[in-house]
Amino acid sequence: MTLPSLLPRGELDALAHEMGTDKSSRTHDYMRLYEFLFKPFKDQDFCFMELGVGLPRINAASLRSWRKFFTKARIIGVDNDKRVEKFSGDEFKIRIGDASDTAFLTELSETYQPSIVLDDASHKWSHQIIAFKTMFPLLPPGGLYVIEDIFTSFPMPIKYDVYADHPESTWTLIARLQAALAGCQTEWPALSVEESELVSWIDAVFLTRRTVIFVKREAQRPEEIERVAELKRRQE
Ligand SMILES: C[S@@+](CC[C@H](N)C(=O)[O-])C[C@H]1O[C@@H](n2cnc3c(N)ncnc32)[C@H](O)[C@@H]1O
Repeated sequence: MTLPSLLPRGELDALAHEMGTDKSSRTHDYMRLYEFLFKPFKDQDFCFMELGVGLPRINAASLRSWRKFFTKARIIGVDNDKRVEKFSGDEFKIRIGDASDTAFLTELSETYQPSIVLDDASHKWSHQIIAFKTMFPLLPPGGLYVIEDIFTSFPMPIKYDVYADHPESTWTLIARLQAALAGCQTEWPALSVEESELVSWIDAVFLTRRTVIFVKREAQRPEEIERVAELKRRQE
């Protein structure tokens, strides 16, 4: 008996190959899992936002893949390199700014109200953490938040010092949040009040090589609302 594949190479992987983004199975192989998770959004009217458009020579390859896959979505790309602004047009909009600037990220979330945010920008620890802590709480219930290229949290021969710009790595934060989620823990591992509130909004975490996807709950569980309120009272 041949088992059906839960994560076959599908339309998104083919588009990634065609457009030339490293998300295809030729390189990072992210699209098989993304297709599994993003398919319910395929024909929905929603906003998809990607932080990190890519060097001009890449020709907005990932934005072009999303544009072809999602039939009705508004696609927004964000980058701090002004040269990629030229790709802004009818197919997708590009916003120029720093994806580690809390005020800018908040403005993006409030203006476009993305239901899916994918961070493929600098891959620096501090940037990944700031963007996640700023934009995940502003997602609508049921939204998805993706952090790509988390291998930068691990020892690597090149550019490690560039990525390791924060006391805690992105992976260590993710590991603490996942531990609290999996164990239904309230006291361990140590979480700030803000992080406890984040966990109370996580419905599920999907993980594969180098990328992690957080699904936002439809609503917080009553006991976790109480738990976060109690932590806030204790802090006062
Ligand atoms: C890996 S590339 C994105 C590739 C593209 N998403 C794709 O799959 O084809 C990373 C991009 O992030 C941008 N970037 C780096 N630091 C940034 C920052 N602080 N804010 C916004 N964009 C940044 C770079 O200019 C570069 O275009």
